[in-house]
Amino acid sequence: MRKLSVFVAMFVLGASAALAMSGAEAIKARRDLMKADGAATKPVVAMLQGKAPFDLATVQKALKTYQNAASKEPALFPPDSKTGDTNALPVIWDDNNVADLDARFKKMGEDATAALTTIKDEASFKATMPDVLKSCDGCHEKYHAKRQ
Ligand code: HEC
Repeated sequence: MRKLSVFVAMFVLGASAALAMSGAEAIKARRDLMKADGAATKPVVAMLQGKAPFDLATVQKALKTYQNAASKEPALFPPDSKTGDTNALPVIWDDNNVADLDARFKKMGEDATAALTTIKDEASFKATMPDVLKSCDGCHEKYHAKRQ
């Protein structure tokens, strides 16, 4: 009996230490993925604004970056990542919005996948890309403190 409770105590302590670690790690991981999204989006926005010539390879690279982020981000908002070095709004966890957040990431991934097929030239790029980028602003408006 005594042995068992020592084991349980160690397990519980170990688990909470691991959770505390994973919160900070999750924040770093999700921010790194978002930074990659931001970096990939810059040249694409320049193309949309006519400030840079259309380049299909750059567009496809951005879409693949979004796919990658969309598949990994949903796992990176555990409850213990609410506080720390983060600009994510607490409303994500307080009002049980994690499912909504996940659905938005899913849509972003699906839109990117569809756009990889749809976008073949400058005309299809200009017709499709703004809708893909709506996912970014829509989610930031609700869940990002700085609304990037
Ligand atoms: C479903 C929600 C959601 C979607 C979709 C989304 N973001 Fe974010 N983004 C966030 C949240 C939440 C943060 C804040 C993360 C943190 O600080 O912990 C963030 C942060 C960022 C940051 C700041 C990174 C940093 O910490 O320096 C950039 C840049 C960014 N997102 C770009 C993008 C781009 C570009 C897209 C679209 C291709 C996008 N995001 C789509 C929710 C989203």
